[in-house]
Amino acid sequence: MNARTDFDSELRRYTEVLNRACGIRPRDRVLDIGCGAGQTTRHAARRAGEGSALGIDVSAPSVDRARELADTEQLGNLVFTHGDAQTHRFPPEHFDLAISRFGTMFFADPAAAFGNIAHALRPGGRLVMLVWQARERNDWIRAIDRALDVPGAAEELDPFSLSDPRAVTEILESAGFVGIDFADVREPVCYGADIPAALDWIRGFTCTSSALRRMDSVAAEHTIDRLRAMLAAHTSAEGVWFDSSTWLVSARRG
Ligand SMILES: C[S@@+](CC[C@H](N)C(=O)[O-])C[C@H]1O[C@@H](n2cnc3c(N)ncnc32)[C@H](O)[C@@H]1O
Repeated sequence: MNARTDFDSELRRYTEVLNRACGIRPRDRVLDIGCGAGQTTRHAARRAGEGSALGIDVSAPSVDRARELADTEQLGNLVFTHGDAQTHRFPPEHFDLAISRFGTMFFADPAAAFGNIAHALRPGGRLVMLVWQARERNDWIRAIDRALDVPGAAEELDPFSLSDPRAVTEILESAGFVGIDFADVREPVCYGADIPAALDWIRGFTCTSSALRRMDSVAAEHTIDRLRAMLAAHTSAEGVWFDSSTWLVSARRG
């Protein structure tokens, strides 16, 4: 039986990049935004042995899972909070570092959200986050879009909302960040050990599930066949991999 795909397995190449860029120090107080099941928060807590890590996520099941996984490690300096990072009342000027692995693209009001995060950072505190570059630079979404064949289907939660460096610079500057930098990072993402695992994973994406929901059963069956064929074309002995492009965004609170 094959293991189910999750963000930790999908994003494993990016995790190494993010961890290196964060350069967490032993006394750092770290905030992990949109922490999901908390792999990056646990890493932060391990590195900040004399500091602490707080993971926040708006999804209650993700926070439950994060707590469950953290319990097995018995890290004493780690807390998970269920909440919206856009509006959550963090202690002001408390954190040395705010990090995120693809957890900052879904804010209803990005200016307010990054303002709130800046307020939680001490002056000089750093923000380090990974976000997707534009749709057309991401092989995985182009392949899914082609297989779904429903052009123009707007996504409620847009994973590419922070893909434009100019717009993001404006948002971050208005939130009080300085020294904003975008590093072009391209790593492959893994959708599963095999086609069934990868199909299961991408059927959970909002774009896929909402497109399939809008189809009748015959059209949905054809679409799933096309998705399967598309995944087969990306499968090797190492699993199902796609190219992708991201920005590693770093900034400091002014
Ligand atoms: C692509 S997942 C990444 C999860 C995690 N960072 C990881 O790499 O495994 C995006 C996460 O952001 C969370 N999220 C979206 N909007 C949020 C918000 N306003 N506040 C806190 N978390 C949010 C989602 O619930 C989801 O867990």
